[in-house]
Amino acid sequence: ARAAHILVASNRGPVSYALDPDGTLTPRRGGGGLVSGLSAIGAEADTLWVCSALGDGDREAVRRGVGEPGVRMLDIDAAVHADAYNGIANSVLWFVHHMLYQTPLEPVFDAEFRRQWGAYEAYNRAFAQALADEAADGAAVVVQDYHLTLVPGMLRELRPDLRIGHFSHTPWAPPEYFRMLPDDVAAQLLRGMLGADRLGFLTHRWADAFTRCCEEVVGGTGTTRVGVHGLGADAEFLRARSHEADVEERMASLREEIGAGRRTIVRVDRTELSKNIVRGLLAYRQLLQERPEWRERVVHVAFAYPSRQDLAVYRSYTEEVSRLAASINSTYGTPGWTPVVLHVKDDFARSLAAYRLADVALVNPIRDGMNLVAKEVPVVSDEGCALVLSREAGAWEELGEDAVGVNPYDVSGTAAALHEALSMAPEERTARTKRLAAAATALPPQRWFLDQLSALRR
Ligand code: G6P
Repeated sequence: ARAAHILVASNRGPVSYALDPDGTLTPRRGGGGLVSGLSAIGAEADTLWVCSALGDGDREAVRRGVGEPGVRMLDIDAAVHADAYNGIANSVLWFVHHMLYQTPLEPVFDAEFRRQWGAYEAYNRAFAQALADEAADGAAVVVQDYHLTLVPGMLRELRPDLRIGHFSHTPWAPPEYFRMLPDDVAAQLLRGMLGADRLGFLTHRWADAFTRCCEEVVGGTGTTRVGVHGLGADAEFLRARSHEADVEERMASLREEIGAGRRTIVRVDRTELSKNIVRGLLAYRQLLQERPEWRERVVHVAFAYPSRQDLAVYRSYTEEVSRLAASINSTYGTPGWTPVVLHVKDDFARSLAAYRLADVALVNPIRDGMNLVAKEVPVVSDEGCALVLSREAGAWEELGEDAVGVNPYDVSGTAAALHEALSMAPEERTARTKRLAAAATALPPQRWFLDQLSALRR
């Protein structure tokens, strides 16, 4: 064993490998809030990040012994991983915590669910075993997210000497919703979490919901402590990165796509059901319909990067986004004006370029653990940007005062909020952006992580 003193465990790791037809392995940085936050840890000698091999490229990298220092990928049986990741984590737990089910029809917890649940247990056990093998005496282990809910309890049994923490990057559902899970599964999930010494959440709202679930289902949180760490944006990194040459290049081509003298409404998301991209497009369509004065004068730049495409609901959602964007363009577009500029190919430099240019940022999730886009835009923006923000995003707790708030289900309300944001006076926009940027960077990733560690060791 390598005897690491600080260990992180998450399904998605900092790097993933693409296997090219000629056999070459090309490393790629992982996406999403979890990886963005944790990337600041850095590869110190006694730190180990344990993650899953996610595709053929990753599995091949494990076989060839290719990897980055401080990262260990677990090559868990592909079928077991698929049932745990797609079947339980992303189809059940993600839906429960974001309250995404259409409850009269879904979920249905049947024999297929029980089979997948067995895979979820096996997958969690593989992580617990790897962590138990790698950790030095008394080491601190911080387990991440809903994929690994059972790990703290399993690891506690294997290694009672460790300091065990768990951090949730998602919302936590209130008991009224959480209790739709089968009783034994609900209890097992909570007991798994309570195997930790300390649990972290992004906001008070999610932490309170977790505590209430424990009170109702397992009679309380026992000796486990619960804390809140609101992950913020990395100002230093973002400001430097957003002024590199590739970002400047993309700004030039975006400006061309938008056209001179037009306002820009920007959104950047994984194509993810909880992000509410479809209602955002409907709101933009209503704005063009009801306020013709904006026609030709505004462009909606929407980056919707592919995510979880193994799941049929994500694939059809992705199609719906493209279809709706095309239909808005064919209804309202003119030879010199494309109302919606939609890009689906992942490109971080282009996202930063859009952040710099944005007049309005639209962040309207149905529910979101935090939402880092809402925090990154004000930091990067060149001339100030009005933020239209869902009250259901965790970021609302910190940014609500200077954002234009929306109920994410209310399409008409969102259309009105877009109009208000587009019409905001420049001085007010600048002043708000400054305050938003300050609030957004209050707890940069590195400190976010160190705070968790010191709280865990206390
Ligand atoms: C959210 C989750 C992360 C996850 C990310 C991307 O931010 O909290 O755990 O890594 O989405 O999703 P993916 O399924 O691609 O890892």
